[in-house]
Amino acid sequence: MEERNPNKIEEEIDFQAVAKTPIRWFGLIYPYFIVLIIFGGLYYVVNLDNVALNKIKPQYVDSTKFPKDITAKKGVILAGVNIAEIVKPDDKIIAKGKELYKSTCSSCHGEEGKGDGAAGSALNPKPRNFSSKDAWINGRKIADIYKTLEEGIPGSGMVAYEYLPVEDKFALIHFIQSIMPDIPQNTAEELALLDDTYSLSKGRIMPNQIPVAKALKILSKESEPVHEANMLIASLIETHKSDPNFNVFDRVCSNKQRAIIYLQKSNIWKSSNSSFANYIASNINNNGFKPLALKLNDEQLNGMRSFLARFFE
Ligand code: HEC
Repeated sequence: MEERNPNKIEEEIDFQAVAKTPIRWFGLIYPYFIVLIIFGGLYYVVNLDNVALNKIKPQYVDSTKFPKDITAKKGVILAGVNIAEIVKPDDKIIAKGKELYKSTCSSCHGEEGKGDGAAGSALNPKPRNFSSKDAWINGRKIADIYKTLEEGIPGSGMVAYEYLPVEDKFALIHFIQSIMPDIPQNTAEELALLDDTYSLSKGRIMPNQIPVAKALKILSKESEPVHEANMLIASLIETHKSDPNFNVFDRVCSNKQRAIIYLQKSNIWKSSNSSFANYIASNINNNGFKPLALKLNDEQLNGMRSFLARFFE
């Protein structure tokens, strides 16, 4: 074996040969690439927040500027309460309020009511800090907080909790006041006004509520037969006003629109005179026909029946 001289680097790398075969350059420079990749990667990871930042500004839309439709809600019966009793806090009602608060409110207002709940962090305005006396909109008195729970704070994340039973609202109020500095006192007038405004001692019934858009849809569906009946009547008057059968129909109707809608509901009346007479006779004063319709002779009844049957599928 040939002896190597460690001091003579020229013996290790034959630069002349390397210069002639470019593929071998790679062997010499690849460590620089590795260093570059490692440092580039480190730079990326360390500055992840900055380099990955979205350069396009987000567009904030002020949703309070667009009227929102009301939500669907089940109606409730709110029983009357003894207002003189319920405005007095005690340990039991505060404990109940604390439970309700934890499940319903703490996500925004924070476990201790400091306005620092996770769900509230993105809100503007921020959820109220109950341990501060500043910036209350409705106020900190019982009647004020009751109003907040009934109506919410429009234009903020604070929605109305009007569906909660009155007792639960007071439990929440007493709990919130229990963690407040200098609990403000209520005058008898304020409490009487509160009772009056929300008929607390009388109780009240809150009907089901559905969104306006949905209500309109239902209404237009309901008005379809009315609309169809009106169209039919208009065309009958237009084209058949001198038809004796139409004149009989006209005479025996107290309300043509109602009569047409009634006839639309069933096919049973088309088969014979007696079924026609029976159909009219049932519900006679509400179905748009006058009792006079039952006094028609067979020929008139038959004429009217076959005349009308043509217009119903
Ligand atoms: C989705 C988040 C959210 C939830 C849940 C929430 N709140 Fe609020 N609340 C807010 C915000 C936001 C404000 C501040 C409104 C403002 O300053 O305009 C607020 C304000 C209030 C205020 C102060 C009103 C005033 O006069 O300024 C009270 C009291 C209150 N909330 C009670 C409650 C109670 C009780 C619950 C549970 C039943 C509750 N909140 C649930 C977001 C929330």
